[in-house]
Amino acid sequence: MITLGIETSCDETAVALIEDGFTIRANLIARQEHLHERFGGVVPEVAARAHVEALNPLLAQALGDTGLDFGDLGGVAVTVGPGLVGALLVGMAAAKSLSLATGMPLIGVNHLEAHYWANFLAHGPPDPPYVALIVSGGHTMLVHVREVFHHEILGQTLDDAAGEAFDKVARLLGLGFPGGPALDAAARTGNPGAVRFPRAMEGSGDLDFSMSGLKSAVLRHVKAERAAGRSIDVPDLAASFQEAIVDVQVSKTLDAARRTGVARVLLGGGVVANSRLRERLQADGTAAGLEIRVPPKALCTDNAAMVACLGAARLERGERTGLDIAADPNLPLAP
Ligand code: KG4
Ligand code: ZN
Repeated sequence: MITLGIETSCDETAVALIEDGFTIRANLIARQEHLHERFGGVVPEVAARAHVEALNPLLAQALGDTGLDFGDLGGVAVTVGPGLVGALLVGMAAAKSLSLATGMPLIGVNHLEAHYWANFLAHGPPDPPYVALIVSGGHTMLVHVREVFHHEILGQTLDDAAGEAFDKVARLLGLGFPGGPALDAAARTGNPGAVRFPRAMEGSGDLDFSMSGLKSAVLRHVKAERAAGRSIDVPDLAASFQEAIVDVQVSKTLDAARRTGVARVLLGGGVVANSRLRERLQADGTAAGLEIRVPPKALCTDNAAMVACLGAARLERGERTGLDIAADPNLPLAP
């Protein structure tokens, strides 16, 4: 069966066609970064309008590239939330219309759940239990998955998401928007030990995160250096900030695995494209006896293949979403 996936929760318009649940036939993304760059962040109204323009041509291209037509599709999966409401509505209107017009079943999915399902493309889901670390522009959370589709949130950020912190610090360092990939690149030639930034909540005894203290510490450091007439070494600062974030992500993730007794950890979300986070979690996790699963970088950031993969599995077990489903900008992963 071919499942169509549609993802429009933020600033990527994405369409994918997945065969038999896990094989990618098409995975297309129209980026809008150039439209938001001058504002230094995603402008919701601009994002929604850009989705309207990009979605139909992208759908036509996915079908054209694969030689498939609507009659070949067995279902349509779409992101319901969390995300920007106007942006979500565009993808949902398209998915509902296609379902209504062709009679194929509709399945609405949670974007955060889809992020760690990116691990299952190609090989399918492993047996639970496992812990998932989901780190994106809007979320940072550790989740215990005892059974497939069942989520228990172990901890999450109390303020900014990790991706947001990367973007804000990148902006402060003049690295542009979106800042995460640029900061990652700048950090490669820097010394992670150059400046010792706080490891927020590392010893807090729980699995929650906080990024705002680190962000303020970077800002204070930059101001103090400038006030003293010293120039900022961008690679050193980027590497030092990145190391502080990565240290906390790694220690909390290993702690979550210890507390739940799982042997496997899955990573998902845009920040998992970060080279240092991937490297450290794989090295430290393996040394702790854990199996660490990381999606390819291109499947970490927003895409529709992960949406179609999760949607296909939910359709397979008989789940269906009614046409009256509403977009939910705050859709929780667990009650
Ligand atoms: O999952 P995602 O594509 O969208 C959301 O669901 O939010 O994540 C986007 C976030 C942005 O904050 C972006 O800067 C960050 O992921 N990101 C990175 C890297 N690539 C993307 N952060 C650090 N290093 C990267 N290489
Ligand atoms: Zn995302």
